[in-house]
Amino acid sequence: MTRTIQPEFDHHGTEANADPVAYYREFRERCPVGRTSAHDGFVYTTRYADVARIARDDATFSSERAPAGDQGVSFVIPPGAGLVQLPIELDPPSSTPYRELINPLLSPESVDRLRPMIAAHATRIVDGFVEAGSVDFVADLTNPLPAAVTLDWLGFGTDEWARYAKPVHDIFAAVAGSERARRGGEALGALEVRIRELLADRRARPADGAVSTLVAATRPDGRPFTDDELVSVVFLLIAGGVDTTTSLTGSTLVWLSAHPQERQRLIDDPDLLTDATEEFLRAFAPSQSMARTVMADTEIGGCPVARGERVLIPWVAANHDPAGFDDPETIRLDRDARRPPSFGIGTHRCAGAHLARATVGEEIALTMAAADGSPLPDWAPGSHVELHLPSGRIRQYSLCGHPESPTWTVAVLRAEAGRGGSKEVHDVVRDGLALTVRGPRNRFPLVDAPGHLLLAGGIGVTPLLAIARDLVARGQRPRMVYGGRTRSSMAFADELTALLGDDLRLVPQDTDGIPNLAALVAATEPGTAIYCCGPSVMIDAATVVCEAAGRSADLHVERFTAPSDQPVWDTSGDRAFGVVLARTGRTVTVPADQRLIDALREEIPTLSYDCEQGYCGACETRVLDGTPEHRDTVLTDDDRASGATMIVCVGRARSASLTLDL
Ligand code: HEM
Ligand code: FES
Repeated sequence: MTRTIQPEFDHHGTEANADPVAYYREFRERCPVGRTSAHDGFVYTTRYADVARIARDDATFSSERAPAGDQGVSFVIPPGAGLVQLPIELDPPSSTPYRELINPLLSPESVDRLRPMIAAHATRIVDGFVEAGSVDFVADLTNPLPAAVTLDWLGFGTDEWARYAKPVHDIFAAVAGSERARRGGEALGALEVRIRELLADRRARPADGAVSTLVAATRPDGRPFTDDELVSVVFLLIAGGVDTTTSLTGSTLVWLSAHPQERQRLIDDPDLLTDATEEFLRAFAPSQSMARTVMADTEIGGCPVARGERVLIPWVAANHDPAGFDDPETIRLDRDARRPPSFGIGTHRCAGAHLARATVGEEIALTMAAADGSPLPDWAPGSHVELHLPSGRIRQYSLCGHPESPTWTVAVLRAEAGRGGSKEVHDVVRDGLALTVRGPRNRFPLVDAPGHLLLAGGIGVTPLLAIARDLVARGQRPRMVYGGRTRSSMAFADELTALLGDDLRLVPQDTDGIPNLAALVAATEPGTAIYCCGPSVMIDAATVVCEAAGRSADLHVERFTAPSDQPVWDTSGDRAFGVVLARTGRTVTVPADQRLIDALREEIPTLSYDCEQGYCGACETRVLDGTPEHRDTVLTDDDRASGATMIVCVGRARSASLTLDL
């Protein structure tokens, strides 16, 4: 039975506001699922497992307004005033056309294109307070920046953010019934009028900005979206985009100012910012809780709940559940915190996660770092730098020149099928073009060892070239095996032949096949350092081989994308399978060497995705038939066993065919 304990649970009460983490901890320990009469009564939850299960099960736990009693915004408790917000106040399949409408506007590629705009706003705002000599972080930075970015992206006028940033903040931060809430309500009305004007204007005169794309879009059946629907979508994009990001950066900057040593760590090692941002998201959970309505009698964590009841799912409590996160109340900048549900879980997972991360990253980096005009810093073999390209794309490349040189050299292979970074370097980067470069950083440092085996695949040769040069200069004889598609495509092959002579083996795939990594590793003495850089499949294979040989400690790898704790899959047995797309009836074949997500994206450009590495949950998709092979770190063992959903960016099929709810 669900219990009511005294004092009654109230997530808006003074005690909860003062320290939400401690408040939820106390309830989690005493009564993890309970009933309260606060705000007309609801069931609260506090555990990661309960929150995740409810968020995923949208058939039993609805986000829609009508079953919630139609008294206001359905996804919060108490229901706030305001327009219906699409798609967040619908359940699938009704929500799907709206998600398909906004997903392409907020995809990783689209956000990459927004980076120069984000950087320009961040620079303008930071320069403003640096010149003024003082700053109120909330008023001068964390509130205006997300508002400027979101409104600029949508296509509002350049200065309009100044009019709406504060009112939007009022709408979310005000206590119900207060003067501030009244002001927020008025601002809401003015914002709605302005959104309608902008929609009409962009229907008549398409221009830059997401609103032009929204008004031109049609539903799957060819009908355009109505103005009422689009007002609702645009309002949610503003509401979702502005205050959450403000809250995250505000809490982060306050924490960093109270922890100067940790702040210095981030300045010294900007690479840490990626993991640290996820950790700040976990710790501060800017969108603290959401709500659902129970559609059929069921139980939560063994406690019965009845149809019609409201349930609170607090992301902040889930993020601090020791069953989900080790030592959850300590903020660890280098924690692998990629699974916290701060962006939600399931069908309503935040559409703007990528934009939020891009804005927060730029804001924190710029606020902490000051540009200086000193000469290029020293670097050691194995280091890489981060190039900020004119389009806003950010790409990492290994330094492959000589460390003593006053200039830096990177080698970039044009990848026609890539995400566009290498093509841009080839097409756009010319002598004299100024580029922002961050680094160098070294996650692939050279260690002392009795011998070195260097395994290079394709353009992964670049850091190994600098490492080989350094070893030879120290009088050592590294052995290198370098695989590539064809001999003529293998960069630096001549230079390496001159440097290493017989200690180099070139393995062009068209004539010699793929290097036998197991044999190469077996031929080295234990303790020989094995360095591997190349395509993911090669690094995965080297990891599997070294693990099997008990040589994991000898292996050093450089990969630019995957998180350090991603499980490694032996992909050598991958085979082709078919996928039926249930909504259209179309069938797609996924060849053995193609990722499922790539095959799906060719058919469905609006597919939702983010990390593409199986840890964020953005691409979770329902499986209607067939047996998926799970390769993600998102789903629980129970989810996997049920086979009801899968993470399509990394997963494949065990059965010959899968039917997906797409
Ligand atoms: C740190 C910043 C952000 C946080 C913590 C955050 C958090 C969330 C959460 C928890 C949800 C899930 C709601 C639910 O399950 O009921 C959500 C949904 C959503 N967010 Fe965000 N958000 C952030 C930034 C953004 C940005 C920048 C945008 C867009 C510009 C955005 C747009 C949306 C939209 C449209 C949804 C609804 C998706 C749907 O219903 O399918 N968010 N967000
Ligand atoms: S896109 Fe992140 S889990 Fe698939």
